[in-house]
Amino acid sequence: MSKLLILLAFSSAFMVLSASAGNVVCYFTSWTIYRPDNGKFTAADIDPSLCTHVYYAFVGLREDGTVAVLDDWEITGLMEIEHLMSLKTQNPDLKIILSMGGWNEGSYKYSTVAKNPNARATMAKSVLEFIDKYGFDGFDLDWEYPCQRGGADEDKANFVTLLGELKAALNAQGYILTAAVSGGIASCKLSYDIPGVSANLDMINVMTYDFHGAFEKWVGHYAPLYASHLDETDEQKTLNVAAGLQYWLDSGADASKINLGLGTYGRTFTLANASNPDLYAPTYGGGDAGPYTRQMGVIGYNEVCAYESDWERVWDDEQKVPHKVKGTQWFGYDDEESLRYKVEFANSKNLGGVMIWSLDTDDFKGICGNGPYPLLKTINQYLN
Ligand SMILES: *[C@@H]1O[C@H](CO)[C@@H](O)[C@H](O)[C@H]1NC(C)=O
Repeated sequence: MSKLLILLAFSSAFMVLSASAGNVVCYFTSWTIYRPDNGKFTAADIDPSLCTHVYYAFVGLREDGTVAVLDDWEITGLMEIEHLMSLKTQNPDLKIILSMGGWNEGSYKYSTVAKNPNARATMAKSVLEFIDKYGFDGFDLDWEYPCQRGGADEDKANFVTLLGELKAALNAQGYILTAAVSGGIASCKLSYDIPGVSANLDMINVMTYDFHGAFEKWVGHYAPLYASHLDETDEQKTLNVAAGLQYWLDSGADASKINLGLGTYGRTFTLANASNPDLYAPTYGGGDAGPYTRQMGVIGYNEVCAYESDWERVWDDEQKVPHKVKGTQWFGYDDEESLRYKVEFANSKNLGGVMIWSLDTDDFKGICGNGPYPLLKTINQYLN
């Protein structure tokens, strides 16, 4: 009897330990505070029990290496960084990370700073000052991407140098350094010395999404877990989560540092022919904008579940992802079922955890009937 009790106590303690081992990195995209109605997402909407790390996205970079505040009103007027920090009273283990960059920042300024030793030193100093001032626990660099979009060939080496100097400066003060990196193999080949990148980061958030979208002229899911039999070329067969992640592992990245990127959103198309909704069917651009995200070609899960609930849901059992169709509209996205497969895939590769882009498009208010944060709760439930 007592042996059984000890065994039970031991196994439940072990379960608590293993349940808290996986990273759940959650991006807070601060511009979502300006969305209308039930789409409006502020720091106060975050459930700090569902994330191990909350990232504040984004600050920018100046060519001299100093941190640039992108929305002063949001920081000094609305005090959103203070509101983020107050989440630690509910979850003292929560880490809050300052994230710099993103798609809209472009690549040129990052390339300019990375090649100049003085600007790199200024960047490390300015980042540390910003972190100290607000009480962040670390820094995240989302340079999209070295050697691309206005970057230069020498970015590949300079990126590793920059990360090494930032990591030394941050780690010396007890802070961590992370980066968001591409999950597309062609992009990775252009941008990264993967062993060098891995050695100079504490966590690597691999953006295994946006493989397809309205930037192409045919139907494709934005983040299929696996290839489809309709993929024909060698490149098409690698435009999926499993192939992108495997490339990082095979190239020498440390699996325990990697967090697998998961989307709470989707990418949408207007079909050229409503009778042909297959993968690679011709399209006339992005699908209709949603009421919250308000951008053609993009949709949040919270919009799909609230406004497209009566559309036909099609499960692609090869790609392990859903899409919805109605008339000429084709919406590829992730839901509880597909995210369970992706989290189990991350577990099978012994990764550090997962990264979620982003908090604001989960059904954070619980409007669709499965309670608040159905996607983030599914992710937490299945992550080792
Ligand atoms: C639309 O797609 C259907 C099914 O593939 C096909 O039979 C039909 O010919 C297509 N219509 C046009 C105008 O291409």
